[in-house]
Amino acid sequence: MHSLPIQLFDPESSTYTYILAADGEAALIDPVDQHCERDLAHLERLGLRLACILETHNHADHVTSAGRLCQLTGARTAAPSGCGIAPADVQLNHGDTLRFGRDEEIQVIHTPGHTAGSMCYLWRGNLFSGDTLLIDGCGRTDFQSGSAEALYRSVTERLFSLPDETLLWPAHDYKSRSVSTIGWEKRHNSRLSGRSLDDFVELMNNLKLPPPRLMDVAVPANRNLGLPH
Ligand code: FE2
Repeated sequence: MHSLPIQLFDPESSTYTYILAADGEAALIDPVDQHCERDLAHLERLGLRLACILETHNHADHVTSAGRLCQLTGARTAAPSGCGIAPADVQLNHGDTLRFGRDEEIQVIHTPGHTAGSMCYLWRGNLFSGDTLLIDGCGRTDFQSGSAEALYRSVTERLFSLPDETLLWPAHDYKSRSVSTIGWEKRHNSRLSGRSLDDFVELMNNLKLPPPRLMDVAVPANRNLGLPH
């Protein structure tokens, strides 16, 4: 099995879900509740046993299917330790490694900013950046314990120090772009490339974005892996 992830899309929230596959096993990143059956069908067609389900953060724009998938498949759930997702089987910290397949390793990189607990995951040269770094953009930092200063440091110090050829797989894209590289974002990301910390904070504090439509439903639901309380 090759080492590129399978990218799946939720048109309602423009969320990407990823299947990482190796040795007959899969890890799933950021699954969306309405697509539980679709994701299970993918795994079945590919002959994969679901080993683990990871959340990059507590999402405000969609509800996760992690809890349901765990009940249906017995897969482990893993979430960043700082996101308040108490029922997750594994609470991830910076520097941890999550294993699946024979020798597959997913490295855990803490990238506070979009939310204080947000994590990115690195697997075989693929970076799953959640809402920390998006293609030619970044996640908002104006709610849910967000911090523009923290996001700037996370991206410039932790993500931009990865090799240029690292593939960037974001949690969202609103313009049908599916993948980028760390090198391209370092050179061209219109929010971050060549911008000082002060400029970035000023920019982020003046975006004036409306709150996500599902926020009041999604955030409490996701604290329980999408299962009813
Ligand atoms: Fe988010």
